[in-house]
Amino acid sequence: MCGIVGYTGPREAYPIIIKGLKRLEYRGYDSTGVALHNGGLKVYKKKGKVAELEDAIVGKDLHAHVGIGHTRWATHGEPSDRNAHPHRSASGKLAMIHNGIIENYNQLKKELDNLGYSFSSETDTEVLLNFIEEIKKNNQCDLEEAVRVALKRVTGAYVILLLDEDNPDTIIAARKGSPLVIGIGKNEHFLGSDASPMLEYTKEVVYVNDYELAIVKPDELILKNLGNEKITPYVQKLDLELAAIEKGGYDHFMLKEIFEQPQTIYDCLRGRLDASEGTITMSGIQQYAEDIMTANRIIMVACGTSWHAGLVAEYIFEELCRINVEVEYASEFRYRNPIINKGDVIIAISQSGETADTLVAIENAKEKGAIILGVVNVVGSSIARTSHGGAYTHAGPEIGVASTKAFTAQLAVLTMIALKIGYIKGTISQDRYMNLLNELQQIPEKVAWTLKHSSTIKTLAQKYKDAHDFLYLGRGYNFPVALEGALKLKEISYIHAEGYPAAEMKHGPIALVDENLPVVFVATKDAYYQKVVSNIQEIKARKGKVIAVITEGDESIAGMADDVMIVPEADEILAPMLSVVPLQLLAYYIGVAKEYDVDKPRNLAKSVTVE
Ligand code: M6R
Repeated sequence: MCGIVGYTGPREAYPIIIKGLKRLEYRGYDSTGVALHNGGLKVYKKKGKVAELEDAIVGKDLHAHVGIGHTRWATHGEPSDRNAHPHRSASGKLAMIHNGIIENYNQLKKELDNLGYSFSSETDTEVLLNFIEEIKKNNQCDLEEAVRVALKRVTGAYVILLLDEDNPDTIIAARKGSPLVIGIGKNEHFLGSDASPMLEYTKEVVYVNDYELAIVKPDELILKNLGNEKITPYVQKLDLELAAIEKGGYDHFMLKEIFEQPQTIYDCLRGRLDASEGTITMSGIQQYAEDIMTANRIIMVACGTSWHAGLVAEYIFEELCRINVEVEYASEFRYRNPIINKGDVIIAISQSGETADTLVAIENAKEKGAIILGVVNVVGSSIARTSHGGAYTHAGPEIGVASTKAFTAQLAVLTMIALKIGYIKGTISQDRYMNLLNELQQIPEKVAWTLKHSSTIKTLAQKYKDAHDFLYLGRGYNFPVALEGALKLKEISYIHAEGYPAAEMKHGPIALVDENLPVVFVATKDAYYQKVVSNIQEIKARKGKVIAVITEGDESIAGMADDVMIVPEADEILAPMLSVVPLQLLAYYIGVAKEYDVDKPRNLAKSVTVE
């Protein structure tokens, strides 16, 4: 949450920063601000999105060769001009932006209050900034040393970038728990929450680690730990093209990402799955295959959509590998002192690889001796680096705040892992294994087929956009898909939606059913099919409106539902990768019909790096 950008070098800093912030807006868009060094420090900031700040400062002198910028997802203090970053220190000589939460800011604030400081915002950031300035003044040290001393007192998570009026070309940066990438150009450096702000300028990047501090000048990057020892920066080459982070002719990133799924699932399988040879090659899993096979249990740890992928994987692993699987919300798991035994295998699922709860959950489990495997999309992210092994999902950058292509790629990876382990373990027959490999290879085509029917779903969106509530129901492998469909609708259209196992409906939610309640059934042909048909009848008997995701050719449900969305036939284990697609589209088209900003839904951020 919150996006940060910085630049120091010979180019004009402001356009680079603004463009970078637009790319990072998925991380938060409550307010925007920039600080530029041009003889002195200038700070411009405003509540709202990047474009609003841009409009508001047309005509100002924005010339500078060093600057920092911030797009905020509010934690401490409401979204407002005064709470927007950058903040200025009491003397006005320092400007700082921050992503994260300073947990002990109240204690630091009390100390500063006693020294007579007053604050112009409600943020933890302004407190930390003044704390740094106080140390600089009191210890008569330079800014770098003051930051080091201050950060030793801080609990919480942060990436901070600081400008100092007296050091015109230097940005001081530090990280713990929130991401920071530094791009290396020719006599210039770029800083960002991810690599997207620097992609068109350089492919050489350094991922800064926790407890590291960077002194960044145009021609020099010095990395140190908090003990003031120098660290050699590990420079990596980015394998990412600019086109991957642009809309490519689609109205929204979310739509582009939904339509990319045939390709992203294909990319995820490519080089790993060979159906003709009957092999699955995943080196980051192979190394731990014995541990997985002999594990007493596998614990899937994740949040949001990634948690839903974990739920589908629970069914798949238990079926194919006969291993006990538990699926945990990372936020609950990390705090409830879970029993973790040596040899437990944790699979952390995360698109961003930066979700704070998931990261801390696996750090704790790692300390207790568990093997950690990451199923992560963003290469080089914190969760990927903390894991012992795992597999990337290779879905490419996901910019839309609502996760779509990351989910289907997670399912593809988790299915491959389960197939591989089940096959080695002997809990899946040769025939079933070969059939599933063949079918898995066909999934990209089947997703493409499903997408060809998007215009029907667009029409349905018009019909149902004014409903106040939705129920989403499914059983077995399709139960987590129902949860995911409901989450997508809530996020994008602000319509209240609940997901339930279809059979649970009669234990309570059925009381809500009347002629105004659309009930979305995920009702593809699987082992539960007949049971779901009965559940549909129960809704129809109470005059509920039934929208069903059905398998192509299913005349039976088509005859009883008010509306249907069709997917091709597939093995029930693989069906979620198809049945989720119409639900993604339904949420998208309803959000668009209601004229909401579907790529940036209110109150949300793409990467949740706070607890
Ligand atoms: O990056 P992660 O997969 O760890 O993110 C987890 C959730 O924050 C994320 O899935 C969130 O629920 C999305 N907004 C869902 O669309």
